[in-house]
Amino acid sequence: MLPKFSSRAFLAPMAGVSDPALRLQCKKMGAGLVVTEFTNIHSIVSKENQLKENMQTIQEFIEYSDQERPLSIQLFGSDLIALEKAAKIVEPYFDIIDYNMGCPAPHITQQMAGGALLQEVNLTQQIFNTLVNAVKKPVTLKIRSGVTHASRFLFRDIAEIAEDEGIQMITLHPRTVSQGYSGNADWEMIKELKEISNLPIVGNGDIVTPEDAKTMIDETGCDYVMVGRGAMGNPFLFEQINDYLKTNSYREYSFKDRLDSFFDYLYLASQYKIKFVNIKNQAMRFTKGMYCGSKFRSKITNSKNIEELKKIMNDAYTK
Ligand SMILES: Cc1cc2nc3c(=O)[nH]c(=O)nc-3n(C[C@H](O)[C@H](O)[C@H](O)COP(=O)(O)O)c2cc1C
Repeated sequence: MLPKFSSRAFLAPMAGVSDPALRLQCKKMGAGLVVTEFTNIHSIVSKENQLKENMQTIQEFIEYSDQERPLSIQLFGSDLIALEKAAKIVEPYFDIIDYNMGCPAPHITQQMAGGALLQEVNLTQQIFNTLVNAVKKPVTLKIRSGVTHASRFLFRDIAEIAEDEGIQMITLHPRTVSQGYSGNADWEMIKELKEISNLPIVGNGDIVTPEDAKTMIDETGCDYVMVGRGAMGNPFLFEQINDYLKTNSYREYSFKDRLDSFFDYLYLASQYKIKFVNIKNQAMRFTKGMYCGSKFRSKITNSKNIEELKKIMNDAYTK
């Protein structure tokens, strides 16, 4: 059974972005569910062997805190043996196991993983079957609509197989793999999926304001919405969506609030092994649109350590 979600707005898995610090911030601001960055099943299996030797658990490799719960881990990779092993390894630590069938990056699709799987009906069925039988925790799925424009309705078949095999929830990002991030997400497809499937449906794609979230829910009937890029450097969006859905109004946040929020992020990040380059990228996102600061942004890029970065961000208060 799926856990109970405290709100209808979820944070999307985003490699290099939805780290445990940002996830916790989004959770505190009202995200109903947060999902780890996607994780390679082969890495989980090989890490587990190393960690065991040091009497450590997979938590050293995939960092999180209990305050994030309910917490979903996203897996990718299609080798059935590794998939079963990886799912069993992570199961005790997470509340949901999510499977990635949307990633368009060539280094993923070339290894028959991510979005490439949408056209592999038999393998997909085996993957779902393997996962659902490997673990007792709920298994969910995240897909794109299809691979190319010609195959843009593959989600229909995949959703049917998913339901038959015991997958418990589907997130649809209605762009094709070959589209990447171009064009608009076709929300009509979310509506169609909601109509043809009995599973809870999470609509995803192009939500950047509370109004967008409400429109997606109203137009498609989806059960939940998932926000990716709109929540980058902007954890406030979850509170705003939740308030807007309840009261039709929400609090606005200032640039100063965003800077404060970045310092909260830094504090949380210090408790994890997040790469400094990723932290600098987060600094860029928290200051996006603040002022025409190409000089400021290159200072962030060139900063060498957290102390330097803090100083640059502190100076931004007076700009
Ligand atoms: C930097 C970045 C990293 C992403 N990494 C993942 C990932 O690890 N797993 C996944 O399923 N989707 C990933 N996505 C896709 C998002 O989860 C989401 O489906 C997509 O961005 C559309 O939603 P949005 O318009 O709200 O951003 C990523 C997107 C971005 C921008």
